Amino acid sequence: MSTVKVGIIGIGGYGMYHLDGVEAMEKDKVARLSAVAEINYKDNSEKIEELKARGVAYYQDWQDIFKEELGLVTIATPIPFHREMVVEALKRDLNVVCEKPAAATIQDVQAMVDAEDASKGICEIGYKHVNGTAFKRLNDLMYRDRLGAPKDIVVVGLLQRQDSYFSRSSWAGKLMLGDRFALDGPMTNAMSHLVNHALYLAHPEHGVLAEPKSVRAELYRAHSQIEVEDTECINVKCSNGVNIFIYLTYCASGELPLANRYIELVCENGTAKWTMENTLTVHYNDGSREEYDYRVYGKPSTELMIRNMADIASGKKGEPFSPLRESKKVVLSTNGAYYSSKSIFKIPDDFITRKEERDSVSTIVKGLEDLILKAANNRELFSDMDIPWAKKTEEFDLTGFSEFRLDDLEL
Ligand SMILES: NC(=O)c1ccc[n+]([C@@H]2O[C@H](COP(=O)([O-])OP(=O)(O)OC[C@H]3O[C@@H](n4cnc5c(N)ncnc54)[C@H](O)[C@@H]3O)[C@@H](O)[C@H]2O)c1
Repeated sequence: MSTVKVGIIGIGGYGMYHLDGVEAMEKDKVARLSAVAEINYKDNSEKIEELKARGVAYYQDWQDIFKEELGLVTIATPIPFHREMVVEALKRDLNVVCEKPAAATIQDVQAMVDAEDASKGICEIGYKHVNGTAFKRLNDLMYRDRLGAPKDIVVVGLLQRQDSYFSRSSWAGKLMLGDRFALDGPMTNAMSHLVNHALYLAHPEHGVLAEPKSVRAELYRAHSQIEVEDTECINVKCSNGVNIFIYLTYCASGELPLANRYIELVCENGTAKWTMENTLTVHYNDGSREEYDYRVYGKPSTELMIRNMADIASGKKGEPFSPLRESKKVVLSTNGAYYSSKSIFKIPDDFITRKEERDSVSTIVKGLEDLILKAANNRELFSDMDIPWAKKTEEFDLTGFSEFRLDDLEL
């Protein structure tokens, strides 16, 4: 099997994990880093010069990376650029790993899927945990073992994002970046993983997501300087009958560990809880219990994902962990959430605490964590509860939905 020549677009943010992954693969001669493209030379000059000294080509304009003869391109640039970069790579019949989510809107993902259909290359989206041992074990326990299929899936994501998070990049917290969609809220960016994983676990086959049928959602905003939502509750009904309830926020009371981002499943013969730490606890209805602590993946999950695609690029048989085509269902659900909510409702200042801490400012919605746990427990949206700032919304039918338009919304 030949060594795959890899190009990375965007190395200054999450792309540093792509760099680490490819560098680790170089040691086993699975891959060789041939080129990187990074628009911001100034802030990344040290790394870029180090790579150039090792013989890696550097380009400031990402289109120039295709001058190199590559087998695999990985993309870790802001969401608004995913569409054009993936489409260009696929036009050249290259294999692609693109960070999550595939894109912000359904029309952008469709354009990427169309490009894949016309290409010899394939594209994987960076939902890295789905290859985790605990995650795969959960899928097997439900569909190939005694836990049984899920009926309800409850997703909780408690995170705090300070003002500095939103000022780090021009697209952070924005609806658009120029004429490209960003929709950079919790469900689209940081916790897009959880939306993907819930749909993944709602379908028996590894790598296939359940089809979302309708969405009822409420989008809220407490941070003052952003355009998108920072708190949301979403009910996605899948065509196979699985009911998914999602509660996400960037306004939690402090810096919480990864275990506060989790998925609970009510299955035929028991319940299960998977956390983003990659741990799994199962309680069976007969009183027995199983616990899996797979916190260590063996190798970093991003490396495993890129390694898998490098194997495919070098001709080895295999499938992407998270195929682009499937991740369309994630974007359908999140776009549908906007259409159900229609607006992003401002949480009144009386219910918010702003605190100067850790060299920035935190925005905390008072009592939100308890409200989320209660809502999750009762499978309710916030407006179904006695919450003064909550607003009722209508269910949105996703049948035939093919274009996200800001003009359709009151944002
Ligand atoms: N898998 C994960 O756990 C995880 C975690 C964080 C971010 N991400 C994803 O990674 C992607 C990037 O997010 P980020 O927060 O690192 O973004 P960022 O704004 O920090 O940008 C990443 C890098 O891309 C570069 N870049 C921007 N535009 C470019 C262009 N046109 N050409 C070349 N380089 C360009 C930037 O200069 C920067 O160095 C997003 O899709 C995000 O959702 C994934």
